[in-house]
Amino acid sequence: MIRDVAIISGLTLATVLFVAGAAEAASPQEMLKRYEAEAKAAGDFPAGGFSAERGKAFYLARHKGGKPATPSCTTCHTDSPLKAGKTRTGKVIQPMALSKTPDRYSDPEKVEKWFRRNCRSVLGRECTPREKGDFLTYMISQ
Ligand code: HEC
Repeated sequence: MIRDVAIISGLTLATVLFVAGAAEAASPQEMLKRYEAEAKAAGDFPAGGFSAERGKAFYLARHKGGKPATPSCTTCHTDSPLKAGKTRTGKVIQPMALSKTPDRYSDPEKVEKWFRRNCRSVLGRECTPREKGDFLTYMISQ
């Protein structure tokens, strides 16, 4: 009896650990789902879904409100997501396109950290879930 209980609770623990582990690493598709849920909660999910076109326009745009030295995502990531970029101190940044750098957009903490940081530099504010969703849709399509 006692041994059965121990086996069952052991299995339960393994399941919990497995599920918790899976929640840590996400696929780019899961990140999209997350931004979709956040955009819906904010009443800002577009009727036609996220759009690679809008993501591209956002990526290429020169924005106002951020630091003068970084008016655009392209300042560091170049005007093509297929090309490697450079930080302002000259360190290489692997291409943003998922086809070129397949391990991108799968670590929620990393994705969120850089969206926060880069959106503040470029736009002077955080990106909205919709902007993140469009951006990610564009990068996944590249
Ligand atoms: C000042 C330079 C700079 C600018 C401008 C910049 N980025 Fe980045 N970005 C980086 C660096 C450095 C990294 C981290 C290195 C890496 O992921 O290869 C990064 C990583 C990211 C990531 C994480 C990707 C992943 O692998 O999970 C996202 C998302 C991102 N940037 C989005 C943006 C967006 C959106 C803009 C424009 C609003 C932008 N960046 C503008 C430098 C920049």
